[in-house]
Amino acid sequence: MSVISVDGVTKVYRVRNRKKAQGEKGKSNSFNWLTRFRQYQDIHAVNNISFSINRGETVGFLGANGAGKSTLIKMLSGILVPTSGNLEVNGLIPHRNRMNHAMNIGVVFGQRTTLWWDLPLNHSFELLKVIYEINPQDYKETLDWLVDLLELELLLDRPVRQLSLGQRMRAELAAALLHQPQVLFLDEPTIGLDIAVKQRIRSALRELNRKWEVTILLTTHDLRDIEEICQKLIVVDKGKLMYNGTLHNFREQFCDQRVIRVALQDEKIAKQLAADPPLEISHAEQDGPWVALYFNRIQTSAAEIASKVMSQFAVMDLVVEEPSIEKTVTELYRGV
Ligand SMILES: Nc1ncnc2c1ncn2[C@@H]1O[C@H](COP(=O)(O)OP(=O)(O)OP(=O)(O)O)[C@@H](O)[C@H]1O
Ligand SMILES: [Mg+2]
Repeated sequence: MSVISVDGVTKVYRVRNRKKAQGEKGKSNSFNWLTRFRQYQDIHAVNNISFSINRGETVGFLGANGAGKSTLIKMLSGILVPTSGNLEVNGLIPHRNRMNHAMNIGVVFGQRTTLWWDLPLNHSFELLKVIYEINPQDYKETLDWLVDLLELELLLDRPVRQLSLGQRMRAELAAALLHQPQVLFLDEPTIGLDIAVKQRIRSALRELNRKWEVTILLTTHDLRDIEEICQKLIVVDKGKLMYNGTLHNFREQFCDQRVIRVALQDEKIAKQLAADPPLEISHAEQDGPWVALYFNRIQTSAAEIASKVMSQFAVMDLVVEEPSIEKTVTELYRGV
């Protein structure tokens, strides 16, 4: 059953065209009235997008800077009103039922804080308990679990302003989850974080999804977030939907290339293979005793390549790699 439904949604921002506005200064009043319309420019940040997300799904939302991701997350959170189209989250229209909607969702914006800057972290949590009317028993259980999951024990007495970015992001995530929302919207939750904190946040999100069946929609520029957390992928470009489906199908549809890496006895033999690979190999790269052999998965299979190489060389080790979605997405953005 779909928990998020986005149907033909468009968001147009009207911005003032400053250059024109200045150029029009000093003209007569009636002319000014006419040209006022021309002093604005419409930006189609989200352009007729439709998709739906089922309960418990984890979906990554990808797109270049300015593609419209944050705008869509803001509409789904009820902060922005769509220009046209219909949005529904948990059966509610976000911008029309803002209070009830807020009870069902958790939101984290990586670049903003929702915590009280000067208060110790546990006071912020106490305030959220009151705002969301969480009963004391649920509050205690959820908080204990989140403190453990996100390693917050030693931070609870510290004012939020003293926390490092990584510590604050873990706290933000806990704050967004205290009322046990069914849906979680995350806008670049791992931005600027070191690899250890990213890993902690990723594993916390996987655990949340497993334990509470939380539906997660997250935007990121770090494709590892998507690979490690999400089953599904939505790609947008200039406000338009480019792809909506599973990560697996994305690879199948857009990534024709596979790579098989073989380790040979030594560098000399590796150079021989790299210089004269099987015919199906589009190109080969040698690095020490390892050779990377690239091939088109539609024309041949990894098994076929492996058996050809093994019939000629003593292979010490062999790895078949999935194509990286990073490369594919970059190409998709560039319209290759
Ligand atoms: N409040 C606003 N007023 C006018 N234009 C806006 C506003 N917010 C966003 N835009 C424009 O809408 C487009 C989409 O912006 P949005 O922030 O949704 O992109 P994004 O995909 O989140 O990008 P990023 O990866 O850089 O965060 C951009 O062209 C942006 O300049
Ligand atoms: Mg954004």
